[in-house]
Amino acid sequence: MAMASRDQWSGRMGFIFAAAGSAIGLGNIWRFPYTAGESGGGAFVLLYLFFVAVIGIPVVLSELAIGRTTQRNPVGAFKALVPGSLWPYVGGLGVLTGFGILAFYAVIAGWTLSYLYGALTGVYGGVLDGEQSLALFTELISDPTMPIVLSGIFIVLTIIVVRGGVSKGIERVTKVLMPLLLVILVILAIRSVTLPGGVDGLVYLFKPDFSKITISVVMSALGQALFSLSLGMGAMITYGSYFPDKENLPSAGITVAFFDTAIAILAGLIIFPALFSVGVEPGAGPGLVFVVLPSIFGSLPAGQLFAIAFYALLAIAALTSTISLLEVVVSYFVDEKGWSRNKSAWVLGGLCFVLAVPSALASGASPMFTDFLGTGVDFLTLNNNIWGNYSLSIGAISLCIFVGYKWGVPNALASLEASGHKLPAPALFGFLVRYVCPAAVGAVLIYVIVTGNYF
Ligand code: PHE
Repeated sequence: MAMASRDQWSGRMGFIFAAAGSAIGLGNIWRFPYTAGESGGGAFVLLYLFFVAVIGIPVVLSELAIGRTTQRNPVGAFKALVPGSLWPYVGGLGVLTGFGILAFYAVIAGWTLSYLYGALTGVYGGVLDGEQSLALFTELISDPTMPIVLSGIFIVLTIIVVRGGVSKGIERVTKVLMPLLLVILVILAIRSVTLPGGVDGLVYLFKPDFSKITISVVMSALGQALFSLSLGMGAMITYGSYFPDKENLPSAGITVAFFDTAIAILAGLIIFPALFSVGVEPGAGPGLVFVVLPSIFGSLPAGQLFAIAFYALLAIAALTSTISLLEVVVSYFVDEKGWSRNKSAWVLGGLCFVLAVPSALASGASPMFTDFLGTGVDFLTLNNNIWGNYSLSIGAISLCIFVGYKWGVPNALASLEASGHKLPAPALFGFLVRYVCPAAVGAVLIYVIVTGNYF
């Protein structure tokens, strides 16, 4: 079924870096710590790890298997496997989710650009206490124009990479920058855990208090596992579709999941000790990392350099994720609607920018979006929940049902093992895909609907 002209990763490592680039992003460094902080710490972290293992890994492998076999975008992939059925709508939901996530993700990514600028001009070089740092953050996010401009810049950067095609560009960039990001994170984590009072942060992060578990916490942990691994909306179908035939796909998929999870935990090791040390509340919400981190740079030797490197890498980590979000949408319009790559990237990226405006105004600039329709929830958080938790969960359960009962686990295994490299524990994979994933995700979704605890 291979189409000769299709682009491919240069090899297994090329895929690993690009897919890790998609997975590792603001989800690890911004979303994971603040969600863990809002959800009570250790118990949330345990649940998150549980979902990565029993839902995340089987779904990564399922998406990659579909991508490799069909060599198509998410909608085209289902069309190729089950023509004339309703399954392509699952791919369609993925494309829609790509828009939904990009539209709020670009706003946060825009904030990182402002912090990079601040680091370059020395704002975070001196010691800032929690209050000063919060004041700077609030000033930025409640500004009526800056967040819009910054998210626009970020979307344009994303468009420029995506319109040029992915493989060579992203692959080359991510190969150098992802390891560098890892080194900076390790150094920051060491600094953070040795801060006075830092140990309390470790206790908060790792000591589970099961009384904190509610259905919303379970839902957030499930959503976070999927969001962080870029699952449930076809990004891994798309990236798997560029996987070279002779390479080891099972090990590449598992490696990506491992690194993504390790980097989330590392981000936790940076944020929680620092936040206990400067006295910021763990439940501070989406601003958490932006408020806490500036206060540790000042206490590091060469703090300004650290701040510059950190925000530059964070912006790049975000960019390699937004690229994959836009790529899903673009590949659909290129393959299925016959649009040129250039037109798709600009038109769809432009649409995302328009959709991003309400989220950019949702942190104080516009009362309507800050308390959206009187729900008490701001528009950005609402989108983060709807697309980043619910839509991905619906996508993941649909995918497992598809692989488990329609396409069949043997076909998925044959695709994963096409190069002759075996998947360890294939029976476990089949069991998780057929029974555990549909039952667990289904139970969480039904429970949430029945109890009405949406957030
Ligand atoms: N996984 C990315 C992150 O952690 C976000 C993302 C979600 C990217 C879904 C693609 C698809 O930042």
